[in-house]
Amino acid sequence: MARRCGRATSRFTGEIQIYPRQAATFAVWLCLCVVFPPVAEAGLYSTSDQVILLTPDNVESVLVNSTAAIVAEFYASWCGHCVAFSPVYKSLARDIKEWKPAVDLAAIDCAAEENRKVCMRFGITGYPTIKFFHAYSKGDSKEQTFKAFPRDVRGLRHKIIDKLEAHEDPWPPACPPLEPTSQAEIDSFFETNNVQHLALIFEDAKSYVGREVTLDLLQFENVAVRRVLNTEEDLVTKLGVTEFPSCYLYYPGGNFTRLNVNVEARTFFSYALQRLPGVVRSGKPPPDSINIHTNNTEEPWRPFNKSRLYMADLESTLHYSLRVELAAHTVIKGDALISFKKYISVLAKYFPGRPVVMNLLRSVNSHLQNQTGDEISYEELREMLDNPAQSPDTALPEGQRWVGCQGSKPYLRRYPCGVWTLFHVLTVQAKNAGGTDPKEVLTAMRNYVHNFFGCRPCAEHFENMARESLVEVSSLSSAVLWLWSRHNRVNNRLAGALSEDPSFPKIQWPSPEMCPACHTVRENGEHRWNDEQVLSFLMSYFSSKSILTDYLDDESQVLAKQREKHEKQQALEAQKCLERKAREALDSMTNPSQPTVQEEEEEEEEGLQDEAVADEEEEGGEGAAAANEMDGNKSEPTPWSKPELEVGRGRRQAHGRPSIVGMRMREPQEDIVDLDSFVNQHYKAKALRVAASSRIKRRTLQRKEEQEPGPVFGLGMELDAGLGMVGLQPIEADFELDVGQQRKRLQKRDLTGQYFVEEAELSHRGRWMSVLSIGFSRLDISLCVILYFLSSMCLLAMYLFFKNRLRLRRAKVALP
Ligand SMILES: Cc1cc2nc3c(=O)[nH]c(=O)nc-3n(C[C@H](O)[C@H](O)[C@H](O)COP(=O)(O)OP(=O)(O)OC[C@H]3O[C@@H](n4cnc5c(N)ncnc54)[C@H](O)[C@@H]3O)c2cc1C
Ligand SMILES: *[C@@H]1O[C@H](CO)[C@@H](O)[C@H](O)[C@H]1NC(C)=O
Ligand SMILES: *[C@@H]1O[C@H](CO)[C@@H](O)[C@H](O)[C@H]1NC(C)=O
Ligand SMILES: *[C@@H]1O[C@H](CO)[C@@H](O)[C@H](O)[C@H]1NC(C)=O
Repeated sequence: MARRCGRATSRFTGEIQIYPRQAATFAVWLCLCVVFPPVAEAGLYSTSDQVILLTPDNVESVLVNSTAAIVAEFYASWCGHCVAFSPVYKSLARDIKEWKPAVDLAAIDCAAEENRKVCMRFGITGYPTIKFFHAYSKGDSKEQTFKAFPRDVRGLRHKIIDKLEAHEDPWPPACPPLEPTSQAEIDSFFETNNVQHLALIFEDAKSYVGREVTLDLLQFENVAVRRVLNTEEDLVTKLGVTEFPSCYLYYPGGNFTRLNVNVEARTFFSYALQRLPGVVRSGKPPPDSINIHTNNTEEPWRPFNKSRLYMADLESTLHYSLRVELAAHTVIKGDALISFKKYISVLAKYFPGRPVVMNLLRSVNSHLQNQTGDEISYEELREMLDNPAQSPDTALPEGQRWVGCQGSKPYLRRYPCGVWTLFHVLTVQAKNAGGTDPKEVLTAMRNYVHNFFGCRPCAEHFENMARESLVEVSSLSSAVLWLWSRHNRVNNRLAGALSEDPSFPKIQWPSPEMCPACHTVRENGEHRWNDEQVLSFLMSYFSSKSILTDYLDDESQVLAKQREKHEKQQALEAQKCLERKAREALDSMTNPSQPTVQEEEEEEEEGLQDEAVADEEEEGGEGAAAANEMDGNKSEPTPWSKPELEVGRGRRQAHGRPSIVGMRMREPQEDIVDLDSFVNQHYKAKALRVAASSRIKRRTLQRKEEQEPGPVFGLGMELDAGLGMVGLQPIEADFELDVGQQRKRLQKRDLTGQYFVEEAELSHRGRWMSVLSIGFSRLDISLCVILYFLSSMCLLAMYLFFKNRLRLRRAKVALP
């Protein structure tokens, strides 16, 4: 209310300048709030209704000189008839959604003070009034009024067609011809029109079906629709038409076939024609590209049956929802926490998952229900999801593996498709389980979407729908049907939108092919869903028995992956602890020649793939050996042990563990020694600059020099020369290093140790030895060896990143 009042104030202040005193303004403002509930929110239509909401600001641009004809409803939100009429008008908007380019719907609330002038301008005296604005209208008050208009969708639709047919020039450019066609026109049709299909709808003069289908297809290419009257004897005889209405596809040369539909009615004709081969929505790529694309997405295409449900989609949705979407909320509290708990409890109750997944959902649920604090951090949740206690047979598979929800582009379908699917499944499971609260799942979904669903406009639309009609749900069956029908509303609204995947057009689901019995017609030919049939279709389509398990990792794999991750985490923790101890030891033992943190960071900023490469190689060669020395730590498989790295590794394997000799082999070049003293004596910033420039210089020099050990190796060494031995312990000790930095520092020292043999081979460097043989004991080196393994985790990431670049560089250098 506060917000509304705020609006009302600002709206009104413009008009009451005559009141000099603020108190008066306030009084009027207060009255307005009470008497005229503010409109934008209080009106009968929302942005989700596919009706243009007219305001004084947009009335000119919408009504005047529009390329489409506009049907505008002028209503007052307090008028009972208007309230009663609004659902009809909304249905009409959904019903003729495809006609928008030719004729669009608008509405304005004349009860809103701000709209008063607009309504006066069009001479509105009673509500509701509907006016028809021609295309290219001048927006004057003479626009035609629908007198005594029908209060049902069908009648209104026919009225609109009448108005369109009587439309004077200029004709709305997007509107196809609506008059009946003749043999003569059809004979020359393909000479003047470049379309694949010509659909002829045979009907009597009173029928509107032909014109409705024509308009239903106006946004589709490669198809044209014409109505043929039953009095057009030539054509009727030629095609042998006996049923009216009926639809025939006519091809050049006089070939024709009858269009196959369940019922000869508008909806069925339109649906079938929109799905003819080659027929595409204007401006969309042809949907058949799906058969050849398979390459467009970064993942391989997983073939699937479009009329089936896949557990892989449901598990991917859970993963994304719980591990990605919720991660955006660092702390969950208040209403959001309640919603979240409800969401998890609904999942634990109804998700038809595999035993491992169910175990995990139940354990998270019981954690949450026992949790009494008024907030929970995402970290805590995340930990719960990873099954920290390692309870047996409990896991939520990581990662997304979309199957039925695959999109033809990586940004289409996937998660939102999974969310819909998940909630349909949950409503159906709730009905099967015979829950007590019919709204339980829907409320949980509504609140999840409201609080967490990443697509905020989607959340708003969904909330609008829920607010409007969730109260109607009174049984578990109606909950299933409610979600189905609201999903169809969303499909209707989104048909043709950018987010629609051309390969998976939004239809009113299930299609007549999927469930023929779901579709029926009323006596007047209007489409009607057979709710009973729909319900039984949904109950079977979303039942747990019909969920396919293709493309899932089996449970033992899921558990193994989780165990691996868990062990990695434990190793990491052990490593942290060890490093802390090691640092203490080092701090007390080493002399001041250690690398600074700053120096290392500098190194990284230079983007040294060479460094990464050297490190990785180290890992491949020695990581496993070092790992064996660690108690109980499983050595990781080494994906990096590729043949291309063999050269470097073979060489390294010769010396096994590093030794103190190695450490002493290293000698920085002059500039590094300078840097050493520099940093010891001067400000760090200064040292950084020098380090950067000197290292670059040195690297280029050295690369030329060191042809024999191979390029990667040479680079590795030069890095070591730069970092390994020229540490600056005192400075470093001044800073609280975080673990990662510490690890890097250690790892570099360690690397240095392992390079010694190659170094020794380079006899011209012998003089370095004496320079660097400073203060390292055997214990120090042993520590390095141990820590070496520990650093490998971090190196793995770097390796993967730099792998390709390494290959490039290697290739380059290998070429003479
Ligand atoms: C709550 C919510 C609100 C959304 N709001 C918007 C929005 O405002 N704007 C926007 O651009 N996108 C919105 N989206 C996303 C949009 O609805 C689609 O999910 C997305 O475009 C992917 O479409 P899709 O082709 O995979 O089919 P989806 O609509 O995601 O449907 C997934 C699958 O469910 C089945 N299905 C289709 N219709 C029904 C039905 N009526 N009943 C039962 N099953 C059905 C089909 O097998 C279909 O493949 C919303 C999504 C959700 C979950
Ligand atoms: C109306 O639109 C047409 C083209 O869309 C334009 O040529 C014409 O100038 C416009 N008229 C007015 C009054 O804006
Ligand atoms: C798939 O992609 C690869 C390279 O990314 C390309 O060589 C191949 O031709 C593509 N295949 C198809 C069918 O487009
Ligand atoms: C897809 O599933 C439906 C329903 O189970 C089945 O009738 C159809 O044969 C399946 N299609 C394919 C290609 O497997």
